[in-house]
Amino acid sequence: MAEIELRGIEKRYGEAPVLKDVSLKIKDGEFLTLVGPSGCGKSTLLRIIAGLEDQDAGEVSVGGRPVDGARPKDRDVAMVFQSYALYPHLTVFDNIALPLRTRQLSFAQRLPLIGPLLPGHTGIERSIRKEVEQAAAMLDVAHLLHRKPGQLSGGQRQRVALGRAMVRHPTVFLMDEPLSNLDARLRVQMRTEITSLHRRLGVTFVYVTHDQSEAMTMADRVAVMMGGELLQVGPPEELYREPQDLRVAEMIGSPKINIVARAHWADDRSVLSAALAPQAKHLAFRPEAAVLITPADGVTNGTVTDLENLGSDIFVHVALRDGSETVVIRTTPDERRFSLGSTVGLKVDAARLMQFDEAGRRCGNIERVAAA
Ligand SMILES: Nc1ncnc2c1ncn2[C@@H]1O[C@H](COP(=O)(O)OP(=O)(O)O)[C@@H](O)[C@H]1O
Ligand SMILES: [Mg+2]
Repeated sequence: MAEIELRGIEKRYGEAPVLKDVSLKIKDGEFLTLVGPSGCGKSTLLRIIAGLEDQDAGEVSVGGRPVDGARPKDRDVAMVFQSYALYPHLTVFDNIALPLRTRQLSFAQRLPLIGPLLPGHTGIERSIRKEVEQAAAMLDVAHLLHRKPGQLSGGQRQRVALGRAMVRHPTVFLMDEPLSNLDARLRVQMRTEITSLHRRLGVTFVYVTHDQSEAMTMADRVAVMMGGELLQVGPPEELYREPQDLRVAEMIGSPKINIVARAHWADDRSVLSAALAPQAKHLAFRPEAAVLITPADGVTNGTVTDLENLGSDIFVHVALRDGSETVVIRTTPDERRFSLGSTVGLKVDAARLMQFDEAGRRCGNIERVAAA
């Protein structure tokens, strides 16, 4: 069992608080992504779980066992970094074998020339070779074992780094933006490889990224972090459909959610003003939660300022009123076409309209996500 529990984690660097009362339970075998803008404290939290950094307050337990004060190597966790951290002078084989050799061979057995002559060395090396070859086969780098990292592509290097983490059979994998050095196409491919690796290994993965689409596509649950605080934790579809905080609504989803000021929308049939909560200050809706109609009295009209044609979808940008508010509406090629510069009416699906108060907290009727 390797569930992770964080309770009231606090961390400061000097005066600046970096983590503020972070509590989170990660289930055994779960794939959790931690997403947030650069500098919000993601790496710090991951390093605290790994034992590479000490928290100022709060507790961490792994597998029901408090690990505070335990050294990284005693925590049964493996960490994979963005920078691969491979040794350039060692072959792929030796890079992957390194944690096993460090753990299983004595200091004397690791010495060059003399080590291999010592008793026990051959047997241990044989079992290490088996482990390394197994991991390499799983990650599709078996044919590269004799190469040096410098002779590998970015994607191959990242696989070697994964292999080096895998051979230790950790119960928890911690990954800190492992794909951000790769080009876009490879990044998307490696996403699938990492999720399939997770399924095959069946252990807990905690994956840090600043890329919301990466976080959403890979995870069982997503934890959204901002300014050292967890804003919301839930399955991807719940964060998308039921964000509880305006900042979560804005971070999740592409194109971005549309946000308009309630003040502009009173008495507007576009959004069914009758259903609005008194404290609602911001109204938000996803690009697919509204339709464009023939301009009419009593609804909000606007001007088409941009068309993004993705083939499957066409995103229509509409400037409302004096242009102070712009929204993006998803249409499909089968629907009526709208040309640049034309005037259109906007009709928002009232059931999918989200309301947020002055402080950005969700208010009004909150539709429950159907239990999965
Ligand atoms: N060793 C350190 N000393 C001082 N400040 C640090 C240190 N590590 C991180 N920070 C600061 O803590 C904040 C969070 O950093 P980090 O956890 O790396 O964020 P993220 O991974 O989300 O980009 C940042 O403002 C960063 O500058
Ligand atoms: Mg970071």
